[in-house]
Amino acid sequence: MRRRSARTCFPRAHLRRSISSSATPPVISPLRGSPCFRKVHAGAKKCARRNETGPSPSRQFQVSRTQKPFFSGSEAFQVLQPEKPRQPRIIAIANQKGGVGKTTTAINLGAALAKAGHEVLLIDLDPQGNASTGLGLAPEARRLTTYDVLIEGAPIRNAIRDTAQERLRVVPATVDLSSADLELVGKERRSFLLRSAIRPSQLAELGVDYVLIDCPPSLSLLTVNAMVAAHSILVPLQSEFFALEGLSQLMLTVREVRQTANPDLRIEGVLLTMHDARNRLAQQVEADARETLGELVFTTVIPRNVRVSEAPSYALPVLDYDPGSKGAMAYASLADELRRNHTRLAA
Ligand SMILES: Nc1ncnc2c1ncn2[C@@H]1O[C@H](COP(=O)(O)OP(=O)(O)OP(=O)(O)O)[C@@H](O)[C@H]1O
Ligand SMILES: [Mg+2]
Repeated sequence: MRRRSARTCFPRAHLRRSISSSATPPVISPLRGSPCFRKVHAGAKKCARRNETGPSPSRQFQVSRTQKPFFSGSEAFQVLQPEKPRQPRIIAIANQKGGVGKTTTAINLGAALAKAGHEVLLIDLDPQGNASTGLGLAPEARRLTTYDVLIEGAPIRNAIRDTAQERLRVVPATVDLSSADLELVGKERRSFLLRSAIRPSQLAELGVDYVLIDCPPSLSLLTVNAMVAAHSILVPLQSEFFALEGLSQLMLTVREVRQTANPDLRIEGVLLTMHDARNRLAQQVEADARETLGELVFTTVIPRNVRVSEAPSYALPVLDYDPGSKGAMAYASLADELRRNHTRLAA
């Protein structure tokens, strides 16, 4: 078989179309100025021409792959004076594909942002409750959960639990949430329940800087609730053969949510996870993703690292379990990249 076959497994043109059509203004206005938007948008040439007169303001913030992260290794654990986002950022971590690193990213990105001095709230929106378990919340300690918040209308502040990690709090989930999809069907404004639970005023009251939502592996009503409530979506993508398959479906859902409920929803970025740089297929997947999605792909790549997979069994983020590991440093670098992107967007 020719080596190109790994590339052709993904209908790239289709994905480009789904992103670009979903990006048609005014629906995707938050992405309009960004280079990634210019790359994928069908009217890109016009847009680029408009910018020929001067440097793109976002260019100066671009990171080269060799550039050192703002903090790394042991520095990652000093509490820096954080540059607070102007308003709490709500980021849904979503991919309907299972086992791609959504929960691992929610826990470790949350921990890295908290270590950088931010107040982080992780909402576990997956009935598997893996994020809650990974942060050390035993099932019996989960008295009020996302189920109570969404279905019973419990105030979110009553469901929030502290974790062993300073500044990282969690709204836990249990298997109860698995019936939520069915129960939500009869509810009025069923896609808006999470959004109503985390209004900006409530988040301001809680002093939260970042909300991370760990979504289930489906495009169910729970995931739609996350998309309707969020400012952006972070999409973990496992560096494997079928990695890009299913992305078009996800992007179409994003587009639908933009058109019907949340016009400002943007793609925070696509994160390559469990990456083995020595593996030729992983290299191919990375090249494909960068070629297809351009700067939507985070510069930071999360390596496959056994310390990352061991950490949840000690109920710790990898940043506490093994701060010097490659996995811990990659998540610290991701937090840094994310914060810089937000600074850029706010400018
Ligand atoms: N960088 C990594 N290195 C090694 N193992 C990893 C890494 N990231 C995740 N894993 C492991 O891969 C498995 C799946 O990860 P995770 O549970 O985060 O995926 P998920 O997308 O949340 O899954 P689901 O769709 O079931 O919710 C877990 O066993 C996790 O420990
Ligand atoms: Mg998960």
